[in-house]
Amino acid sequence: MKPVSAETGWVEESAPSNIALIKYMGKTADPSANVSVNSSLSWTLDHLRTYVRVRFEDQAPEFVWRPFVREGLHAPELSEKGRERYLRHAERCLDLLAPGTRTKRNTFAVESANGFPSDCGLASSASSFAALTLAIAKYTGQDTQKIETRKMLAMLSREGSGSSCRSLFSPWAIWTTEGAAPVDGLPSREQIRHLSLIVDDSKKMVSSSEAHVRVTTSSLFRGRIERAEERMRLLLDHLRRSTGIDGARAWNRAAHLVWAESWDMHALFETSEPPFGYFVPGSIEALSALRSIGERVSKDGGREPIVTMDAGPNVHVLLWKDDRTGDIVRELNKALSTSTRILDSECMPESIGT
Ligand code: DP6
Repeated sequence: MKPVSAETGWVEESAPSNIALIKYMGKTADPSANVSVNSSLSWTLDHLRTYVRVRFEDQAPEFVWRPFVREGLHAPELSEKGRERYLRHAERCLDLLAPGTRTKRNTFAVESANGFPSDCGLASSASSFAALTLAIAKYTGQDTQKIETRKMLAMLSREGSGSSCRSLFSPWAIWTTEGAAPVDGLPSREQIRHLSLIVDDSKKMVSSSEAHVRVTTSSLFRGRIERAEERMRLLLDHLRRSTGIDGARAWNRAAHLVWAESWDMHALFETSEPPFGYFVPGSIEALSALRSIGERVSKDGGREPIVTMDAGPNVHVLLWKDDRTGDIVRELNKALSTSTRILDSECMPESIGT
């Protein structure tokens, strides 16, 4: 396919991060293929985006990465290995979407940066790989808005980093053996507010790619697929029913399923051989504050916070937007140490420049 964009100009795209409520944890036989052993479901974090621009440049015969410099964007800290992995994905996308376009004379330049602070411990491979895949797709003339194209691109993005395939759909994405797709009939973007509680911004000791391999040594890994699939079935059902006026009970059931799923994944980590984990004191402080708030809110007939953690120490919260939400946020703020930063979807720009 011939690139439609001017070959001298940049082509730019952005993609959001996502937080999994049913986790992708554990890969099938070939870990480099990023095929999950179970289905996963995520909420798309449209306010936490990576911005990427790409173009050919007539210089050395290679792929280069640079930070994307623009007001409001934050350069990611990419290790040599991370940069290599990112550029290999650019090569994979170009070769598949525009075979033969690469010639020995061209440098393919990739620039990327995040719309959220780099030092907040949320550095997201999901948004980075999704944005890169979309930028190259646009560069090569694909209609990235078409749903069938997007599904194809999601599977391509998965080859760069598994969880990125869900970042092509919003506000909900499901990833099954059929691929990744949007999900209808669940709470809308207008109904949900997302908080990231940043309790620790240091670099992870065990990457999520490594975690996928290590969890298979846990004795709890037996039965994991069945547990995740059963939770998925129940969670979709409760979330669907939670949108009605009397949906608080269903929402709270969903909150308990998500809580159990997060602990299930972290229990896998802690029972691996050798064990590893991501909890720090601030994580426990946040979880325990959220549990107390949840207990009180549900006693009053309200909707509890939905709480989950990724392979990291920070805590993600989904709040149902109603007249109690402000009180929940204030109570949480009071309960947390001053060192914990809160990134609130209500206070973040949805996009930075174009
Ligand atoms: C805990 O997508 O980062 O966030 O495919 O090796 O790049 P690779 O792994 P990655 O794993 C994400 C794991 C998780 C759960 C999830 O997002 O579903």
